[in-house]
Amino acid sequence: MNSKELEALFDQQAAGYDQQWARQAPVRDCLHFLLESVFSELPENAHLLCVGAGTGQELLYLAARHPQWRFTAVEPSSAMMQECRRNAEAQGVAERCDFHTGYLDSLPRETEFDAATSFLVSQFILDPRARIGFFKEIAARLKPAGILASSDLTARADPQQQARLMTLWAQVLSAEPVTPQVVARMEQAYHRDVAVLPADNVEAMIRQAGFTAPIPFFQAGMIRAWSARRD
Ligand SMILES: C[S@@+](CC[C@H](N)C(=O)[O-])C[C@H]1O[C@@H](n2cnc3c(N)ncnc32)[C@H](O)[C@@H]1O
Repeated sequence: MNSKELEALFDQQAAGYDQQWARQAPVRDCLHFLLESVFSELPENAHLLCVGAGTGQELLYLAARHPQWRFTAVEPSSAMMQECRRNAEAQGVAERCDFHTGYLDSLPRETEFDAATSFLVSQFILDPRARIGFFKEIAARLKPAGILASSDLTARADPQQQARLMTLWAQVLSAEPVTPQVVARMEQAYHRDVAVLPADNVEAMIRQAGFTAPIPFFQAGMIRAWSARRD
């Protein structure tokens, strides 16, 4: 997917996005619960960068628990950003947020952030060098030793294990019993639209981008999340 296709895809999904993924709320809740510990040492007045903020779920969760934190949301889909802003206004936290519709490369370099989130975002960058470049851009926006929390869809390196994991994940996403055809369609869509790599490969990319010691702090089905520090 090029950037126009990606933006169109998320523009189209934005209005129903939270409803579409409601079934996965327990997975997201657990990720957010663990994220609190990852960010537990941040100062009271921390400034966070939320890359690929979507409808704002991680931002809203953290804003509710940390009344003095500020947030900069970066999101290329204008319709997703509209949902994010609307949700932040409804929760009464919008005045602590800056909303940047676009990519990191066009975000003004005024702020050095204490921490960043990137949840289910880097997987959309299919070229490995560009994906490392994406993590590098996040590193460049953080203070020294700033914390990154990043999640992505990941695969098993062994094809048989991966086939079983994909079937399990398809079932997690569906309220109905899944057929082999459904799993095959999902596999094709992943193959076309996202780079679902073995977790070790993604971890290596995070290191190559200038982060030390990525720690896998969450795994649910195909989603793995790491915390890492800027060198
Ligand atoms: C799967 S959604 C996840 C949204 C949110 N982080 C969450 O976990 O609910 C991915 C979001 O990342 C955005 N995105 C994709 N590629 C991006 C990039 N290179 N930089 C910033 N955002 C990107 C998409 O527009 C989309 O809103």
